[in-house]
Amino acid sequence: KALPAAHTSLAGRIVTISAGGTREALDPVRFLGNRSSGKQGAALAAAALAAGATVRFLAAHMDVQPPAGVELVRVESALDLREAALKAAVDSDVVIMAAAVADFRPAEVSDTKIKKVDGEDAPLVRLVRNPDILHELVERRNAQGSQQLIVGFAAETGDAQGDVLEHATAKLKRKGCDLLVVNQVGIGRVFGQDDNSVVILSGHGAEPQSAAGSKADVAAAVVDRVGAELTRVFP
Ligand code: CTP
Ligand code: CA
Repeated sequence: KALPAAHTSLAGRIVTISAGGTREALDPVRFLGNRSSGKQGAALAAAALAAGATVRFLAAHMDVQPPAGVELVRVESALDLREAALKAAVDSDVVIMAAAVADFRPAEVSDTKIKKVDGEDAPLVRLVRNPDILHELVERRNAQGSQQLIVGFAAETGDAQGDVLEHATAKLKRKGCDLLVVNQVGIGRVFGQDDNSVVILSGHGAEPQSAAGSKADVAAAVVDRVGAELTRVFP
């Protein structure tokens, strides 16, 4: 349900939003990537701008253009995004991590193009873990005791260990963020699509809230909720 305008306005707020999918280099011409289109992140940025916020937009690879009017920072890898996010977060009132961050990157990046050699085995790619940017943002915020609202996104499919909401609730606890926007993914579902359906989980005990429709509709619902949480969590 629509909230009164006084509670939804982000006027005077600095909102950092990450979007798109990171690319993890293998060599100068190749990378490991993911299917994130950046559409939901771009819609969030547009909604935050419409609500009066100053928007810092940290764009990993996207299939769409970032909206005009954001402070744009282009990033490639998870390590690039980490640096940009920690910097942008310093004076942000809100940080929304909508980017699909690679969990792993190649352990070695070749300075030169990897060539195939007749008679030799195909190379093995060893991967190492990337830092958890969202978790790090929460730890910094908590250490500083600052009044910053941190929002995560979760892509879940559900599996033998639990359904989408069980996984998401565990993730919310692990990450320690204030809100977690959860969507159910699968091949051809959500990624790259124009519609979305999400559940917004609260780290402060509020009931889960559903939002569905175009990515613009979902973005508007998330931005409304962020506005409401700012006044509720940090009155
Ligand atoms: N995220 C992040 N840094 C990472 C991985 C994810 O900041 N290295 C953020 C994403 O931007 C998102 C949230 O964490 O806001 C959840 O991402 P998700 O991939 O669902 O969570 P993971 O902790 O990586 O768990 P999983 O093993 O299910 O992928
Ligand atoms: Ca992940």
